[in-house]
Amino acid sequence: MSDGDSDTSSEGSDASSGSSDVSDGSSDVSDGGEGDGTWVKVADLSECPPGSLLEVEVEQELIVLANIDGDLYALQNRCSHQDLPLSDGELDGDRLECLYHGARFDVCTGRAVGLPAIKPVPVYDVRIRGQEIYVQI
Ligand code: FES
Repeated sequence: MSDGDSDTSSEGSDASSGSSDVSDGSSDVSDGGEGDGTWVKVADLSECPPGSLLEVEVEQELIVLANIDGDLYALQNRCSHQDLPLSDGELDGDRLECLYHGARFDVCTGRAVGLPAIKPVPVYDVRIRGQEIYVQI
């Protein structure tokens, strides 16, 4: 049985701190150059300070951004337990705890690490360019 992680290309890489090419504005994130998704600006960095969550909507997909010590992560904003919004929950280090029944997820991988959720939540690649946050969808 698969663990649901079909994107092995980003395995082990840190989307926001692993590459400095987008933070200095020298590369074009609009066409990415990796993966097959489109990079979409979702928010300004100031809207999601360290330790906070921010719900954004991209092409009718609800996404929750999580800022962990300046590193940005993006997950589908639906708890895999009962589809309630993870953006209502709280960050605890690199864990996101669902407000509703206490399920916990690894923000970096989307993996469920605390019951009652057992399935992972999809994650998205994130880039910071200047003061803007982009998500690949
Ligand atoms: S909806 Fe998230 S733990 Fe139940």
